[in-house]
Amino acid sequence: MKKNLLTFSILLTCAFFVACDPPQQTELSEEYYSGGVNGTAFNRTSLAYEQPAPAVKDLAAFKRGEKMFENNYVTGEGTPFSGLGPVYIRSSCIACHPVYGRSKRVETFNSEEYGNGYLVMIHTPDGKICESFTGMLQTRAVPPYLPPVDESGIHITWHNFTDQYGNVYPDGTPYSLIYPTVEIDRSAILLPVPDDYQVSIEGTIGIFGTGLLDAITDEDLFAERDAQVARGYYVGEIGGMIKEADGSEHPGRYTYGCTRGTLQNGPGSNAIWNITNVTRPDRNYLYTTKAWVEKMGELGLDTVGFIGGFNQTEMTMAEFDDFMIWHRGLAVPAARDLDDDDVKAGKEIFYSIGCTACHKPTWTTGTDQYIPGFSNQKIWPYTDLLKHDLGMKEPGLRKMCRTTPLWGRGLSYICAGHTDMLHDLRARNYEEAILWHFGDAEQSREKFRNLSKEDRHNLVRFLESI
Ligand code: HEC
Ligand code: HEC
Repeated sequence: MKKNLLTFSILLTCAFFVACDPPQQTELSEEYYSGGVNGTAFNRTSLAYEQPAPAVKDLAAFKRGEKMFENNYVTGEGTPFSGLGPVYIRSSCIACHPVYGRSKRVETFNSEEYGNGYLVMIHTPDGKICESFTGMLQTRAVPPYLPPVDESGIHITWHNFTDQYGNVYPDGTPYSLIYPTVEIDRSAILLPVPDDYQVSIEGTIGIFGTGLLDAITDEDLFAERDAQVARGYYVGEIGGMIKEADGSEHPGRYTYGCTRGTLQNGPGSNAIWNITNVTRPDRNYLYTTKAWVEKMGELGLDTVGFIGGFNQTEMTMAEFDDFMIWHRGLAVPAARDLDDDDVKAGKEIFYSIGCTACHKPTWTTGTDQYIPGFSNQKIWPYTDLLKHDLGMKEPGLRKMCRTTPLWGRGLSYICAGHTDMLHDLRARNYEEAILWHFGDAEQSREKFRNLSKEDRHNLVRFLESI
């Protein structure tokens, strides 16, 4: 028995060595491979979020797909990346996902500002999108068309928040917290809207690693939910069942609201159509509403084909396939500095004060039909992919929010130039992000507040390293 075990571990080590190219990385523990051996890139520079995973075989297709993400779409027919509009949200993906990562907190909403990734939503007090508007508000249009909202009428206000302890740790150190509210002037809204309309914003999450999260099986997702129900505390809610084109149904696992079930029909696959309104054979219609089309008709503008479908498409399925190879194949940056003493101390705290109850450190992927190398990978995303209520002041539409994966976030400053976090980017750093954990996570927050200054620092060092 002992001998078998020994042979097995030698075999394992060999497999590990072969996969761990370049050779100087052979000593690293599995925890450094955040995206598994086949899904991790060893790059800690500003390019860390845009690397192909080792499992990606067709690098030419990956590069072609990458271009579709980075490019600005234009209106002109017959030119590359044409088809923008007539009404749209942004002219490129990267405008909202700067350096493939996270958008930044802004004071003034300007859709032309690089890195302002806020999506705006106009909704009723009970959280339903007002029917004149698309779920993601369009604030741009190709002349002579007009957008549903003139964005100069969108106002973001940042307020100070004081908690029950007067924003002071038990050791006397003060902290500060801010949160946003958003308003749109009635006069800036072109379409019918109920009097009690409200406005929410949501920042971007990031693109890398979503292909690996897609390879986690639905069964494992349900099992995690069941395990949380059985343990009886910090119980997460699974995303609703989302119907796919082939009729199958899968629990939502993408976006803060868990509103998308599979990557093939996920936020990126939809965004490449609805953000820009560039049509393709499987999305041969405009992302718009009846109210907007009727309004444009009233103004005497041509709206033929705006409701229903167009005959021509602006992106081919071959282009879309390349786009998905890129999207799926983005590697997760390897963890860093895990052998540092402060980081090790921080890790112990992360595991002991309840963080892992929701930020589930690891998953093992199932069989991946798209990128076979993504199958059976032990990955370290630090999320349960379930929704929790953190009881935040003015959360907007996202009262229940998916636990955000923590992998790779420590490189946010190097890659995107900021450390803004949480669904509306109200946290300006890790410490503030943790201090916004009220509601379901309040006990964990209390334990964090009661740590010594050094332990708080070490915990943040650990978060920066994963
Ligand atoms: C208007 C800004 C904006 C643009 C442009 C945009 N996104 Fe996003 N994206 C967001 C926001 C905001 C979220 C978080 C959304 C949510 O939870 O509802 C998001 C979420 C995502 C996610 C989900 C990440 C996760 O972990 O669940 C992916 C993937 C994604 N976007 C890909 C893309 C791609 C690819 C494009 C271009 C085709 C794109 N996005 C264009 C704003 C944008
Ligand atoms: C009850 C579940 C739960 C517990 C416990 C929990 N979290 Fe979270 N965490 C969440 C959810 C949900 C979000 C997303 C909230 C949002 O964006 O509004 C989040 C977001 C975060 C973020 C921001 C990530 C980002 O990029 O936006 C950090 C950092 C974080 N948690 C760290 C921690 C730490 C450290 C602990 C332990 C002290 C902890 N969390 C405990 C559920 C939890």
